[in-house]
Amino acid sequence: MKTEFDSLVHVYLVSFPGQGHVNPLLRLGKRLATKGLLVTFCMPESWAKQMRLASDIVPGEPSPIGDGFIRFESFEDEWPEDEPRRQDLDQYLPQLQSVGKRVLPEIIKNQHPPVSCLINNPFIPWVSDVAESLGLPSAMLWVQSCACFSAYYHYYHKLVPFPSETDLELDVQLPCMPLLKSDEIPSFLHPNTPEPFLRRAILGQYRNLEKPFCILMDTFMELEQENVEFMSKIRPIKTVGPLFRNPKAANNAAVKGDLLKADDCAIQWLDTKPPSTVVYVSFGSVVYLKQEQVDEIAYGLLDSGLSFLWVMKPPHKDSGRTIHVLPEGFLEKAGNNGKVVRWSPQEQVLRHPSVACFVTHCGWNSSMEAMTSGMPLVAFPQWGDQVTNARYLVDVFKVAVRMCRGDAANELIKREEVKRCLLEATVGSKAKVIKENVLKLKAAAEAAVAEGGSSDRNIQEFVDEVRKRSL
Ligand code: UDX
Repeated sequence: MKTEFDSLVHVYLVSFPGQGHVNPLLRLGKRLATKGLLVTFCMPESWAKQMRLASDIVPGEPSPIGDGFIRFESFEDEWPEDEPRRQDLDQYLPQLQSVGKRVLPEIIKNQHPPVSCLINNPFIPWVSDVAESLGLPSAMLWVQSCACFSAYYHYYHKLVPFPSETDLELDVQLPCMPLLKSDEIPSFLHPNTPEPFLRRAILGQYRNLEKPFCILMDTFMELEQENVEFMSKIRPIKTVGPLFRNPKAANNAAVKGDLLKADDCAIQWLDTKPPSTVVYVSFGSVVYLKQEQVDEIAYGLLDSGLSFLWVMKPPHKDSGRTIHVLPEGFLEKAGNNGKVVRWSPQEQVLRHPSVACFVTHCGWNSSMEAMTSGMPLVAFPQWGDQVTNARYLVDVFKVAVRMCRGDAANELIKREEVKRCLLEATVGSKAKVIKENVLKLKAAAEAAVAEGGSSDRNIQEFVDEVRKRSL
């Protein structure tokens, strides 16, 4: 039977199951669809199932976006339903690879219209092998900053000295970057990291980096020009961000990759607040703070006198963690000045005029979303790329106040410091400078994704290349 997308070039996206991976790849999918492609987004069924519960996505059914379409598929990862995945990456990733390499070639061979290119995000570099075995080109979407891409690249190829067992405090000098203190490099590269399995997971991508014909990055030229230019001489990089700002996909904001259903009453509550009066607090999908830290943040928020919207996600069922408890009487004292939700529609929150600043763990998605929304940040990094992102947000982009240095410092940030940072980011001369800086970045980000902007041109070149290779 002939369908309206029969004649479209078809790209097949395979995602690792994690919020920080799914969101940018799905946004890339929407962007490619707006350029007139048919996009299939494929992920392990364990994640797809939860995503369907949180949104209105119907598997297999294509949704129109711009001039193209996006549709969803999944495959069984054959991992026991109740066994943790992220906590056990050393076991899970080889399993995913073995299953994926077995089942995906058949799935992809039977696609209609035929697939012209495969794209994956980090942790699943073997997708390029699948593409190669089918005689198809592949590309990779890097979901962190170009600075972090460069740090991992230089570490993997041993191009510059990094902290070692014998020199734990070594500063790291990477090309085109400010000198990074040992707690400012992506923390998984530190010999003392408690999560070496995440280092292995990320570096896995570098073993297969020769295969993708293009490495797409969710950043933009005007933000990371020097790093991008430097790394582009080494690998074929194209900046395509900020992916979440898609001028032509307004008709399909409902296609989302959230695992938890966002609490829409957050926006209704924000609507009742005066402009620039609310602190938004959220630490992404993975970071889970210690109970003592939650207490100090709670008191710091109350003491600041500012209104707040705080995302307190429940612990992941795999994690064995207990649910956070707010200090006794906290919600009563906050009254209508405070709102706590399980998951927020973050993109909308960051655009809301009532929000004054964003207390964030500095995950790259949150960082890009904030900068592109003109939102001042309060940096509360924990680990991984977050500590490097914080360094850039505070000292290079100058759009954030630093509240902590990250897990390595093992600090408990006291309520006085929380209050001080919140006030510094919202009132006074420093707040004014930060706001001016972030508004400049917002304008640059909007120009990058607008028709003819640096990221838009790169997406178009990528689409043209895929079309050419599909002939
Ligand atoms: C992970 C890593 O932790 C991070 O360091 C890396 O840069 C990307 O992968 P995560 O911790 O989930 O990501 O943080 P982040 O990158 O900020 O992504 C979180 C996503 O969830 C964002 O797109 C954000 O908009 C969304 N989100 C978060 C919501 O939609 N609602 C919320 O309430 C919280």
